[in-house]
Amino acid sequence: MKFRVLLQSLALPFVSGVPLEFRSTAGVPTGLPADQISINSVSTYGTGCPTTDSVSITLADNNTVLTVGFNDFQTFVGPDIASSQSDKTCSISLNVYYPGGYTSAYLNATYHGFAELDAGVSGNISSLYSFPGTIGSGAFSSTNTNINTGGVYLKADHIPLVSKVTSPCGRNATAVIRVRVKIGGSNSTLSGTLTDDDVSLVLTQQVHSGKTVCK
Ligand SMILES: *[C@@H]1O[C@H](CO)[C@@H](O)[C@H](O)[C@H]1NC(C)=O
Ligand SMILES: *[C@@H]1O[C@H](CO)[C@@H](O)[C@H](O)[C@H]1NC(C)=O
Ligand SMILES: *[C@@H]1O[C@H](CO)[C@@H](O)[C@H](O)[C@H]1NC(C)=O
Ligand SMILES: *[C@@H]1O[C@H](CO)[C@@H](O)[C@H](O)[C@H]1NC(C)=O
Ligand SMILES: *[C@@H]1O[C@H](CO)[C@@H](O)[C@H](O)[C@H]1NC(C)=O
Repeated sequence: MKFRVLLQSLALPFVSGVPLEFRSTAGVPTGLPADQISINSVSTYGTGCPTTDSVSITLADNNTVLTVGFNDFQTFVGPDIASSQSDKTCSISLNVYYPGGYTSAYLNATYHGFAELDAGVSGNISSLYSFPGTIGSGAFSSTNTNINTGGVYLKADHIPLVSKVTSPCGRNATAVIRVRVKIGGSNSTLSGTLTDDDVSLVLTQQVHSGKTVCK
């Protein structure tokens, strides 16, 4: 089996021993509705998104919809492929504004990607959603999608923020989404590639009563 994308990847210089980390931040918008949950800023870092050019960040609909496109979030297995190519992550850190008095909020995440797998090769797209600094430890949600057939795939997560977040009422708080793409074969002669092309994140909140008072 041959992979067009694989050849491109192998042509890239490989630097070992250097932490692959790069942060890109979308511009902070002005004039967003004060009564609406919204995303202030975004940064990305990890082996699946190592450079500015490896991600494209788009905010829409008053910063309630974020799309992160990945140009380089590809994993590979094969006879001559370094094992580091089989397991990559990208963490997306969001600074989120929570309006005063909101009752509940949700995060929908939809991932699109592509798999080309020999029989005996499979992979996982897993996502860890965490909310550091908002409440104590344990504030996370984890999902995993096992992919064992080739072609395009879709992974969709629906994360309720209300049970995870103790009302960061009328203030900003951080949410981190750690996406991991991991591929593996049942023996070392097999080849495959698994890619995460993009994720779209949609924040929604339920209509609040207006009676809740921020502390
Ligand atoms: C953005 O918010 C303003 C003020 O609430 C509203 O009039 C407008 O329709 C919103 N636009 C979008 C795309 O949601
Ligand atoms: C979020 O996902 C849930 C469950 O799949 C769905 O019912 C809801 O309509 C979605 N909301 C948005 C804004 O896409
Ligand atoms: C590797 O796995 C494939 C698919 O299961 C099998 O056809 C092949 O014989 C295996 N090769 C070795 C060396 O075990
Ligand atoms: C939230 O962060 C944005 C962007 O840095 C800032 O403009 C705004 O004043 C902050 N809001 C609060 C309530 O801290
Ligand atoms: C994918 O996850 C499943 C469990 O959900 C596990 O059995 C399998 O080994 C994982 N595959 C890889 C390549 O990590």
